[in-house]
Amino acid sequence: VRVGIIPEHLLERVALWLGAIPTPIVQTFPPIVFARCVIAATQLGIFTALAEGVASADEIAARCHTQPRPTRLLLDALVALGYASYRAGCYGLAPAARRWLDPVRPGNVQDYLAFTAVQWEWLSHLEAFIKTDTPLIFHHDLAPAEWERYMLGMYSIARLTLPEVLWRARLPRHARTLLDLGGGHGLAAIQWCRRRPTLRADIVDLAAALLATPPLPSDVAPRLRRIAGDALTSDLGTACYDVVYTANLMHHFSAAQNQCLAQRIARALRPGGIWIVQDGIRDTGNHISQASALGALYFALTSASGFWTFDDFATWQRAAGLRPRRPIRLLTAPGQGIQIATREGGFRGASP
Ligand SMILES: C[S@@+](CC[C@H](N)C(=O)[O-])C[C@H]1O[C@@H](n2cnc3c(N)ncnc32)[C@H](O)[C@@H]1O
Repeated sequence: VRVGIIPEHLLERVALWLGAIPTPIVQTFPPIVFARCVIAATQLGIFTALAEGVASADEIAARCHTQPRPTRLLLDALVALGYASYRAGCYGLAPAARRWLDPVRPGNVQDYLAFTAVQWEWLSHLEAFIKTDTPLIFHHDLAPAEWERYMLGMYSIARLTLPEVLWRARLPRHARTLLDLGGGHGLAAIQWCRRRPTLRADIVDLAAALLATPPLPSDVAPRLRRIAGDALTSDLGTACYDVVYTANLMHHFSAAQNQCLAQRIARALRPGGIWIVQDGIRDTGNHISQASALGALYFALTSASGFWTFDDFATWQRAAGLRPRRPIRLLTAPGQGIQIATREGGFRGASP
C-alpha cells in the first residue's frame, strides 16, 4: 500500500491531471494535521469515548475531560477523515474505524498510535541527521514511560502479523527450545509455546525493555524465561536452541554487527535448527515501494542502520554456515518479510 493524493471530484481529478494542484503542499500540510488529529484523539481518549456510544460533542468532551469547543472541532475533523460518524448532533465511531480503534477489539491499534506520539518527536531530528549522519540510537535514551509505549506499540502490531508468521514459518517437528532475541513483549514466544506444549522459550531483550512489559500469561509462564541481555554481546550459548527468532531487530544494527550476530546465532543453533529473521525489507531494483524507502530512512534516523535486503540476510546466514531458504513476503505487514535459514546436520537427540 502507498499513501497518495485522491481527488474528491471530477474537477479536482482534471486539475490534478493538468498539474494545477501544488502536490508538494497537498502531500505535506494536510497529512501532518491528519496524522496529529488521529494521534491526539488517541492520546485524549476520544476514540475510546466514541466507542462507548454516540454522544454530543459536549458529552464526548465531558467523558475525555477536554474543552467542548476544540473537542467539537477535532470531532468534525475526524468525521471528515472517516474516523467518526455524525448524525443529528451526535458523534460516534465510524464503522471502518471500529475495526482498528475500538479498545475492546483484540486487534485494535490504539497502543501503536500512542507510540506514534513518541516517534513524532524523533522525526523532528531528520534534518540534523541528514546534515551530520548522527542517528538518535533511541534505545539508549528512552524514559521508562516511553519504553512502556514502545513495548505496547510493538505488541499491538505483532498481534496483527503473528498469525501469518506462525503459519508461514513452521517450526521443525522436533523443536523443543526457542530463543526470541530482541523479543520485547514476548508475544511470539508466548504464541509458539501455546501451539507446542513441549516447547520452552527464552525471551532475551535489553533490561529496560523487559521492565516495561506486562507479566507473562500464567498458562505458558512456566515454560518461558525472560533474560536481560544485549543481542550484540551476551552469550547466546552453543547448540542450545532449535529455533532462533529475530523480529524487527536487525534493522537496528550495522552490517558488521549483523554479520557477527549471524555467527553467534549459528553457533547457538542445534543441528537441524532454524533461524527465522523477520524484518522490514529494503527493495532493490527499479521499483522501490514507499514502505521500504520510508522505513529505511526512518530506521537510519532512529537507530544505527535501517532496512536490509533479503539478499543481505541470506548472505549473513550463508557466511555463518547456515542454508538460507526462499524469502517470504508478508501479506499482513506491507514491506515486511521472512528469511529462514537452516543449520544443516539433522536432528541429533533431545534438547537439553
Ligand atoms: C522493534 S522492537 C521488536 C520487538 C519484537 N521482536 C517484535 O517484533 O514485536 C525491537 C526490539 O529489539 C530490542 N533491542 C534493540 N537493541 C537490542 C540489543 N542490542 N539487544 C537486545 N535487544 C535489543 C528492543 O528493546 C525491542 O524490544
